[in-house]
Parts: sequence; structure tokens; C-alpha cells
Amino acid sequence: MSSSEIRQKFLEFFKKRGHAVVPSSSLIPTDPSVLLTTAGMQQFKPYFVGKADSLKDFGSKNTVSIQKCFRTSDIDEVGDESHLTFFEMLGNFSFGGYFKEEAIKYAFDFITSKDWMNLEIDYVTVFGGSKEENLEPEEESEKIWADLGVKDIRKAGKNDNFWGPTGSEGPCGPTTEIYVKNANGQSVEVWNIVFNQYYYDPNKNPKYALMKSFGVDTGMGLERLTMVVQNKKNIFETDLFTKPFGVMLITPSGTRVETPRIIADHIRGLVFLVADGVRPSNKDTGYILRRLIRRVVIQLGVGKYGLPKNQVVSSALKRIEAVVEFYGDFYQELKTNYKNIIDVFTEESEKFNKTLENGLREFYNRYPQLKAQTPSLDRKYQVHIPQKISGQDAFDLHQSYGFTIDILRDLARDGMHVIDEKSFDELFKKHQEISRAGMEKKFGGHGLILNTGELKAGNEEEMNKVLRLHTATHLLQQALREVLGPEVKQAGSDITPERTRFDFSFPRKLTPEEIKKVEDLVNVKIKEDLPVNFKEMSKNEAEKTGALYFFKEKYPDKVKVYYVGKSLESAWSKEFCGGPHVKRTGEIGHFKISKEEAVGAGTRRIRGVVG
Ligand code: ALA
Repeated sequence: MSSSEIRQKFLEFFKKRGHAVVPSSSLIPTDPSVLLTTAGMQQFKPYFVGKADSLKDFGSKNTVSIQKCFRTSDIDEVGDESHLTFFEMLGNFSFGGYFKEEAIKYAFDFITSKDWMNLEIDYVTVFGGSKEENLEPEEESEKIWADLGVKDIRKAGKNDNFWGPTGSEGPCGPTTEIYVKNANGQSVEVWNIVFNQYYYDPNKNPKYALMKSFGVDTGMGLERLTMVVQNKKNIFETDLFTKPFGVMLITPSGTRVETPRIIADHIRGLVFLVADGVRPSNKDTGYILRRLIRRVVIQLGVGKYGLPKNQVVSSALKRIEAVVEFYGDFYQELKTNYKNIIDVFTEESEKFNKTLENGLREFYNRYPQLKAQTPSLDRKYQVHIPQKISGQDAFDLHQSYGFTIDILRDLARDGMHVIDEKSFDELFKKHQEISRAGMEKKFGGHGLILNTGELKAGNEEEMNKVLRLHTATHLLQQALREVLGPEVKQAGSDITPERTRFDFSFPRKLTPEEIKKVEDLVNVKIKEDLPVNFKEMSKNEAEKTGALYFFKEKYPDKVKVYYVGKSLESAWSKEFCGGPHVKRTGEIGHFKISKEEAVGAGTRRIRGVVG
């Protein structure tokens, strides 16, 4: 069975059982507590806590999805049999619909039935309770499994069989996990079934309070399921990797087995991140993307692979093309963003490729004692790093030559050495703070920047992007009002170099036609290349101009009104705003709505990107 059949079967199985099929949300989440989407349940959080109504939005209390996920926390594990940064999570969900009995039976049927996956369950785990946290053991799940004829039921503690938010508050509960053997006879966890019955709030007593309405949240990694269905020894032998990477997974002899796996994992990850609007930068998601791209370059160019410099980028691009080709049928966004993916990769990797050689040379200047062990630098870079690389040295290499932390770790590992990561992290943080303070000074005339939390940028390149997105957001608000009516009112806004996020009051989901109309209208205003200016005046006067303002914001007595058009009187868009903005709308380029969704009753959220 191919991976694409497995995807279809999963959706079909749950559709037949009354689940609404919901598309994957973006890897860039709306949930501010995580940088990237790490689980299928994230887009459904409002439904679990009763802030949104699944029946109303999806026509059912139960949903099923295949979610794009990215777990940065696993980046160091990539290279083994089963860990990845990017992966696809198959999940079924219920918000006050069915509970433990149905959820476990569905999973049992899907995994074991001849009509579906036709696998044998090796064992399952259930929550054994926690005395310290005053949480009961899961006798109910245990009984359901036993009634289904499952013999090996193991109990595990809170670390393994309890799922919920880390650090912050949110829905959570006991889990039960299904283990199936791979071709090596190793038991692999394939499916995690979470029963959201508590709401965790560290500031309340008790911390775990039973929720009014219970929920089911499940997650099964497509890569792992495919491994056991196709009876492979590791995920890299499944068609999810052999199809796009083919012989490229076979590597020069003597190469460590991790190398091609890291390359394949990172190529997939970067393709999906760029398609969802992430761009390389030194912060947050942008830095994650940068790490992936640069690590691909170094893995291809250094060590046993040792491709000559001029082949590194083209060799990576071939793999990127193959990923877009293979995954593009199911994930259309890869195809529509193909050019962006190629451009972003090429630009970032060429920049890095240029400094790579000098960076390695700099190493030897600092650690000449290692030079003797080093063969020719021209074609194969063999690097040995002393016992402990100081944080300062690592940081210098990072700043001057773009060596990201993963690269430094890779190089250190090659020479059996380590980096003083604690001191590196401190220097990295300090540097970010200094450059942020610099930006604040630079844009000091426009109070809004970086201190209201609405606009977020770390350097000039990012600032440029943020400016374009900021002006685009003004155009978006006006376009929404023209298309949907004056009841549209701003409810929140957040702009990062990757995207703008705009919340507004509106009672229902937008139709695809409405979304298209709004998008088109913004792009018409961009094409008109209208000037963007502001006038400063008293709050009273400003209100009289008809300019929009955000009711939640406390404005000073003197405010700026930013307007798009030739004069304030004739302007198409007017808003109270601290700025800054682009000078003319033409600078924005092209605007696209990447997502529209609910964020609570009567409030919608739009994410938009510019390209
Ligand atoms: N949310 C659960 C997980 O990610 C299903 O494992």
C-alpha cells in the first residue's frame, strides 16, 4: 500500500464514521504559545475549550485531518530510524461527541482490520495514574482494550501517557498508545490517542479540573505508519522518502548513515516551511528555516559527500524539485509556491556557500594545532575542532560566516568535540537584544514599532518585509469593509516578517468568492501604486476624518492618521496608526490571503503574506 493510499484510507475511514474532513492548517500556527504547528489538535484548540462550535463550522462534532507538523525539538534526533523535523500527522478528533469506547474501537479497527491497515498490534499502553498530581489510573481504557482481545496492555506514567500543554494552560488528559512491530521486529509507537477530559491551569487549585465537555485528540505519524504497513526497517525506506529521493538516499561509501537522512529530512522541512510563508532570518521560524538550508549545504559540501562547491546548490535543488513533484498532488501549496521555494533556497544557500570556505579557514587560524590533521581544503573539508569550542568562537563563526548551531554541532561531532552551547546561547540572545534596541532607536519617531507587540522585526531586511505587510494590513481592513460591510471591525493584529495576522469581528466563515474578492481588491490598490502618508492631529480632529481606529487601543491625545491615496480627504484607506509604512503601495508587491478561520464566536482571523 502506498503512502498516498494510506492517507486516503485514513480520511475515508473516518468520513464513513461521521467525521468532517478538515484540511491541514498552516505550519505557522495561530496559537501564539508555539512557534510552529506541532500537532493536529492545534487548529482545533478553540473547539476543545468551547470557544468555537464544531457543529456550526464543520457540520459535525467530529473531524479528521492530515496535519503538517514541525518539531524543532527533534532536530538532534534526525538521522535515527524514526525521528523527523517535518512530518504528517493523521488525526481524528471529537469535541463533545464520542469518547473512550468509540475512539479506541475506531483505532483498533483501522489498524487491524483486513479492509484497512491489516496490522497486528504488538502492545498498547494506558495511563497508570499519578499520585503526586492526584490523577486516577485509566481503568476504563484498559477494559476497552481487553474486551477487544488485546493481551499486552502496559501501564505508563505521566511522562509517557498524559498529553497536554507544556508550561501554559489548556485542555489535556490521559492517553493510550498503540505499538506495532517494524521489519526489524522493533516495536514502534504509531498512534497516540488523547482523552481531553481536564483543563490544566497551573494557577488554580486543583490544577487539573474536569471540563464540561470531553474531547478526543489523536495523532499518528504517517511516516511511521507507512513504515510498518510497508514492512520497512526505518522511515527512510518508505515510499515517502524513496520516491522523492530515490537513489539519492544511497550515499558514497564511508558516509555516515545519518547524513543522507538529515539531508532528506531538512529538504522536506524547508520546502514545506517556505510554502507556508516562512523566510530565512535570525529569529524564530526564520532562523529554523535558515538552519535547515545551511545544514543541507554543509552536509552536501563537507565530509564524505564532499560535492564541489558549484554542485552543492544544484544538487540540493534537484532534491527540492523531486519533493515538490511527489508531495505537490496532496499539498497544492508546494506547486503554487514552487518559484518561491527555489528562489529562497538559492539565495540563502549561495550566500552561505560563499562564506563557507572562509569560515572553515578561520577555524584553523584559531586552532592551528588542528591544521596538520587536515587534508586539502579545496575539495573535501575535513574539520577537527578542539575539545570544547568556546561559546565566543562559535558565536564569531556564526556571526561572520553564518555557521548555525546545527552546523557547529555537526562539525564538532565529526571531531568528537563539543561546543559550549550555554555560552553560545547567551551571546546569541544578547546580540538579538542589542540589535532590537538599535531598531527601536532607528524607528524611534514611530512609537508603535516593536513595543506594542503588533509589529515584530529583528533587522533591516525583516523590517522592510514588516513595513510591506503593515501597509497591506491597512489595505486588507478597508477591502474587508468594502466586500463584507462596515460591521467589520479590527479585533487584533500581529505582524512578523513572515506574515500578517488580522482579527476582525464578523459572524460567519467567509466564502471562497469573498476571500478572492478581498484579495483582488487589495492587489488592485497595490497596482495603483498609491502614495502612503500621515497627518498628525488631535484625537478629536482625527475622529472627524472618518479614519478607522482600534477600539481596544488607548490612543494619546495627539495621533497620526495614516492614509493611502493622494490626499487625506480622498484617501481610500485611513487609520489611526503609529506607522511605519511603505512610501507607495506598489512596494508591497503581491498580497495573498493564506488562511481564514474562526478565533472564537463572532471573530475571524485572516493571515496574509506578501511576495
Ligand atoms: N496531540 C497528540 C500528539 O501530538 C495526539 O501526540
